[in-house]
Amino acid sequence: MSTETQADSSAARSGSDTLTVTDNRTGQTFELPITDGTVRAMDFRQMKVDEDDFGLMTYDPAFTNTASCRSAVTFIDGDAGILEYRGYPIEQLAEKSTYLEVSYLLVHGELPTQPQLDEWTNDITMHTFVHENVKEFVGGFRHDAHPMGMLLGAVGALSTFYPEATEIKDTENRHTRGQPLVYPDNDLRYPGNFLGMLYKMTELKYQPDPRLERALDILFILHADHEQNCSTNAVRAVGSSEVDPYSAVAGGIAALYGPLHGGANEAVLRMLRRVGTKENIPAFMKGVKQGEERLMGFGHRVYKNHDPRATIIKSATEDVFEVTGKNPLLEIAMELEKIALADEYFVSRKLYPNVDFYSGLIYEALGLPVEMFPVMFAIPRTSGWISQWLEMVVDSEQKIARPRQIYTGARGRDYAEIGSR
Ligand code: ACO
Repeated sequence: MSTETQADSSAARSGSDTLTVTDNRTGQTFELPITDGTVRAMDFRQMKVDEDDFGLMTYDPAFTNTASCRSAVTFIDGDAGILEYRGYPIEQLAEKSTYLEVSYLLVHGELPTQPQLDEWTNDITMHTFVHENVKEFVGGFRHDAHPMGMLLGAVGALSTFYPEATEIKDTENRHTRGQPLVYPDNDLRYPGNFLGMLYKMTELKYQPDPRLERALDILFILHADHEQNCSTNAVRAVGSSEVDPYSAVAGGIAALYGPLHGGANEAVLRMLRRVGTKENIPAFMKGVKQGEERLMGFGHRVYKNHDPRATIIKSATEDVFEVTGKNPLLEIAMELEKIALADEYFVSRKLYPNVDFYSGLIYEALGLPVEMFPVMFAIPRTSGWISQWLEMVVDSEQKIARPRQIYTGARGRDYAEIGSR
C-alpha cells in the first residue's frame, strides 16, 4: 500500500524501490511502491484535490503500458525478438516438439513425460468426435457463411450441449464446399487427422503427406499462445465474469476474427492477390505510405525487431512448396518484404513481417480457401486461451474486468418533448 509522505524527494532516496509523486495541484507528495517494474494504478486514487474528488486515475487506451495480469505462460521480449512458452524458446519447440506436446506444456506448465504425453494424446484423440447435433447446427448456416462466424457461433453453442468437448474441428470448410463431414480417424496423429478431416474423399484410409503434416504441426505450435494479445485479453475479460470457458473462448474467436489480429492472414492473401504482379508494387507501396491502407502482415504492438514466428514460417513454406509446388504469390510477398525492409517509412516505425505475412501462403498451398485462414489460427490458439483462462480463474488478484472511463458527454439535461426538439 502506498503512503503519503512529507516530501523528501532528495537523491538520498535513490536505491529504494519506490516512486515519489508530487501532486502539484495540492503540493502533496506520495511514495508508491514499485513491484516487478510496475506501480499500482489504484495507488493513484488517494491523490485528490478535496474530499469529494474521486481520485486520480491512469488513462491508457488500448493498454499500451498497462499490465493486466500476472502470467507464467508465455514470455515475449519484443525488442530482442524473443518468444518462449513456459520458458522454452519457440525455435526449439518448432524444431523438436509437436503441437499436442506444446499444448500440454502450455496447460500444465511442464513438458510431459512419455506416459503423460501418451495419456494426453489418447484423451484428445478420444474426444475428437463432436456430438451429432453439432452437424445440424453447422448445417443451419448459409452455404457462404464466413467460417470464422461459424466457428464463433459453434463454439458458443458448445457451452449449451457439449461441456466435455475439446475440439470442434473443421466442419465449416466441408460445409462451404458441400462435402460430407469426415469423422476423425484415431489412427492418425493430430495434424494428420486434421488434414484428413479437411481432404478425405472416398478413399478408405486417408494418408497425409508427412511433410505437410509436419508443416501444419509447426504452424499450430507457432500459433498456440502469444501472451496478452487482443483475443487472449478478450478471453480473460469475458472469463472474468465467471462464464463457462466455451463462452469465454467464443469471445476470443470474435476478437481474433478482425483483420488487425488473426484475420490478418486472410487480409494478406487478399492484398497479395490484389497487388497481382511485381509491377504493381510501387503504386501499392505509395498508397500504404500515404496512409491509404496498411501493408497487412507487417507491424506488431510488441515486436519491434523481428517476429521470431515469421522467421520459422518462412522456412516452413519451402517444405510445403516442395510438395504442393510454389505459390506464385510468394514472389510478390518476398518482393514486398524486401522493399519494406529497406524503406525509411517501415524502418523508422520498426515495422517487420509478423506471423501472418507468410502463413496464408502455406494455407493456400494446402488448398484452403482464404476464409479458413483465421480458423487455422483459432484452432491452435485454443490451447493458449485455455491455459490463460486456467491461470486466471485461480489468480486471487483477479476480479471481474471493469475498466474506468473519462466521461466526455453531456450531463443533467432535461428531457424535451418530441414536438419541441
Ligand atoms: N502498414 C503501414 N503502416 C503501418 C502498419 C502497416 N502494417 N502498421 C503500423 N503502421 C504505422 C502506423 O500507421 C503508425 O504510423 P504513424 O506513427 O505515422 O501514425 C505507426 O506505424 C505505428 O502503428 P500503430 O497503429 O500505432 O501500431 P499498433 O501497435 O497500434 O498496431 C498492428 C499494431 C495492429 C499489428 C499494426 O501494425 C497493423 O495494423 N498491422 C497490419 C495488420 C496485421 O498484420 N495484424 C497482425 C498482427 S500479428 C497478430 O495479431 C497475430
